Amino acid sequence: MEFNGRHIVSLRDLSKEDLLKILSIAKNLEEKPQPDLLSGFLMATLFFEPSTRTRLSFEAAMSRLGGRVIGFADANSTSQKKGESLADTIRMAEQYADVIVMRHPHDGAARLATEVSGIPIINGGDGSNQHPTQTCLDLYTINKLFPNLIDDSDQLTVAFAGDLRYGRTVHSLFEALLHFNVKILTIAPKGLELPESFTQKATAKGITVTVVETLQEAAEQSDILYMTRLQEERFPDPVEFDHVKSSYRLNARMLKNAKESLRILHPLPRVNEIATDVDETEHAHYFPQAGNGIPVRQALLALVLGKIS
Ligand code: CP
Repeated sequence: MEFNGRHIVSLRDLSKEDLLKILSIAKNLEEKPQPDLLSGFLMATLFFEPSTRTRLSFEAAMSRLGGRVIGFADANSTSQKKGESLADTIRMAEQYADVIVMRHPHDGAARLATEVSGIPIINGGDGSNQHPTQTCLDLYTINKLFPNLIDDSDQLTVAFAGDLRYGRTVHSLFEALLHFNVKILTIAPKGLELPESFTQKATAKGITVTVVETLQEAAEQSDILYMTRLQEERFPDPVEFDHVKSSYRLNARMLKNAKESLRILHPLPRVNEIATDVDETEHAHYFPQAGNGIPVRQALLALVLGKIS
């Protein structure tokens, strides 16, 4: 399907072919930067929720392709504070920019934006729903580490750990991995397990999803350990949160029997679920992972703005 003018809202909108195209263009842009590719284009970043990586890497990606950026990082400084609706905010940004990247605390906000926008909407995270551009950079990272992912020649074991119920990065990546030859492990505190609908989708595609009991077990059995933050802001019971947070802390000692090739990813920010002694191990790969956001977001911008097809 043509990318020019397209919205990027959910993994469900992206076929395996689409994902492979994004990865291939990102690789080309990383190897051969094109500093003028988006000259004359303007991107609006509308962030109704905090962000460090998504907003800054989109802005860096656009700037490094010669484009320009407008936007806000705090909705309290906008006319939303005076009661302006999301739909009207999108209608305004559409007057000023060529593409909108938005983050919003409510599930479905990006989809709503597409209904009123004549320019591409890129979802930078909506509630606990989806974070498709994070997934593209996660896949790009996994493919750099394990190139056999793409040709399906080896089966990769991916363990998801942390808040699997509310974690939008988990939901998006899980759906993307269903296109590939993977085995999935999960480990989550009680009440934050992966919703059953995800397991059902995997099973329907012949992919096994196995629950493991400890982080150590997950680390020892996987090629990729995808850690996520326990999201205190979305946790059902604050008392329970205090109880589980200390039991979800990966440290270097737990990795002593892991495969040498194990790589630990995390969409970041981390809070205390990965001890800093893990950073010193060969397994830690979350900072290079975040760096991959630049070529991947460059690829997405160039595609939806019709400068690469
Ligand atoms: N991974 C991610 O979405 O990070 P930010 O919340 O800092 O954008």
